This record gives sequence, C-alpha cells and structure tokens, in this order.
Amino acid sequence: MTIPTQSAPDALKDRVILVTGAGAGLGREAALAYAKHGATIALLGRNDKKLEAVYDEIVAAGGAEPAMFPFDLAAADDDGFERLAGTISYHLKRLDGILHSAAAFFSLTPLHLQTLEQWNTLLKVNLAAPFALTRACLPLLKSAPDASVIFTGETHGNKPAAYWGGYAVSKSGLHALTTILSEELEQTPHIRVNTLIPGLVNSPLRRKTHPAEDPDTLPQTADLMPWYLWLMGPDSREVRGQIIECAGEKPV
Ligand SMILES: NC(=O)c1ccc[n+]([C@@H]2O[C@H](COP(=O)([O-])OP(=O)(O)OC[C@H]3O[C@@H](n4cnc5c(N)ncnc54)[C@H](OP(=O)(O)O)[C@@H]3O)[C@@H](O)[C@H]2O)c1
Repeated sequence: MTIPTQSAPDALKDRVILVTGAGAGLGREAALAYAKHGATIALLGRNDKKLEAVYDEIVAAGGAEPAMFPFDLAAADDDGFERLAGTISYHLKRLDGILHSAAAFFSLTPLHLQTLEQWNTLLKVNLAAPFALTRACLPLLKSAPDASVIFTGETHGNKPAAYWGGYAVSKSGLHALTTILSEELEQTPHIRVNTLIPGLVNSPLRRKTHPAEDPDTLPQTADLMPWYLWLMGPDSREVRGQIIECAGEKPV
C-alpha cells in the first residue's frame, strides 16, 4: 500500500479525535501528531499524570487545548462507556475519529501458565473495550462528515505463535471486528473502520516482549506517524475494512 510521506499540515483541522492509551508509547506519539495537524484531542488513559504530561506537551507546542478522560478500560461496563461518550459529546460537541491504542499485556508465557483472570483482562482491554467504546461513540461518529476508527493490531494477531497466548488471541479478534463493523457500516460510508498493525517499533510494549533488544536499533514511534496520520485523515477516505501492516513498508 502506498501512502503519502506527509499529511498536509492542516489535515486534521477542526476534527476532534479520541486517543486511548494516550499517556504512553504510540498513543502518546499519535496524540501529539494529530494535535500538530490541527485536531483537538480527547486523551484517554488510566494514569492522570501521564495524561497531564501529554496535555502539557500539546499546549506547549501550540496545539488546541485537549480534553483529558482518565478511564480504566478494564473496569468499564456498558453504562460507563455510554457516560464517557456523553461526556465527550457535552464537552467537545463532536467526534471525528478514534484511535484505539491502549493495550493490556502481561508476559510471554506458555498457555499452561496463563490464567483466566489474565485472559479476561486481555480480552476486555484489547478487544471488548474497543468494541464497546466505538459502539457508544457511533452516534457522534455518524454526525461527523468523515470519521475514521482505527483499531491497533499486533503482528501475532495475524500470525499467532507460541507464548503470545491471550494477547495474540485478543488482537486477532480485532480483525473480525474490523470486517463485521465495516460491513455493518456499508450504508454509512462517511465512517470507516480499519486496523493498523505497527509491527517492529521501539514502543513500551516492545520493551516488555523483547527486553534484551537494543531499542536504538528499532524504528521509533515517530517513524510510524505517517501511517497514523494518513489513516486518520482525509487522504484515506476510501480505505475501509482493511488490516494494514506498517512493518517493512516505507511511505513514498
Ligand atoms: N508488533 C506490533 O504489531 C505492535 C508493536 C507494538 C505495539 N503494538 C500495539 O500498539 C499499541 C500501542 O502500543 P505501545 O507499545 O505504545 O503500548 P503501551 O505504551 O505499553 O500501552 C499503551 C497504553 O495503554 C494504556 N492502558 C493499558 N491498560 C489500560 C486500561 N485498562 N485502561 C486504559 N488504558 C490502558 C497504558 O496505560 P498506562 O501507561 O497507565 O499503563 C498505556 O498508556 C497497542 O495496542 C499494542 O498492542 C503492536
């Protein structure tokens, strides 16, 4: 797939974008990049201090004042997701996109050492919460002229392998969710849903899965932002229901 090297500086002007897992890693990087390209960001994470740090960075860089939503995706029920969508609507008035970047991960272990409690958390944060949050936000997204929902996949969701256990299973479910939701939104062409797989990148999760690796030898989170910007912005308007791997590709 060929994408533009750079999105226009105002590619996300006047858009409101919700980023989950915005306090760290790829979510933080994307929140900063989206704000730099004109969006107002709704920062969602479970750690107030990390969200405040991203808030400060956006404001210091001259971005629109973000909104902060401290929220534990593992603990939320239907009512919680609906209330969150209502709060976004009340404070920000609109929603043009969601980047689901938050993820739960424990460790790489054989299945016989993984617990049901861990699986419940993995399936909740990585799969059920992206579904429930998107569903709760659909009325807002339906009112937007060009809405983009991005689920963040994982290489082992595509190619499951020993020791990746519930984390890989939860991520593989996003592929089915992407197809199902895209087909159900066929008559709503101004909302597109895709999954982006970051692949090899120096992210906090990578340091947990490959602790012995030299992080300086990896692509950095900023290197992936052309994909994140393109898939959130107007240049990918026609792209829907796709599983897109960043790994190994360079934007041209
Ligand atoms: N090879 C690949 O394809 C690949 C590689 C890297 C990443 N990824 C995916 O890319 C995404 C971002 O990865 P990353 O390394 O940047 O991740 P990260 O920084 O480790 O975690 C992402 C964020 O999720 C938040 N989070 C975790 N549980 C949460 C919960 N219950 N409620 C709310 N927020 C929660 C974390 O908050 P705290 O800061 O409070 O913990 C963190 O800010 C993930 O979805 C990951 O699976 C894929």
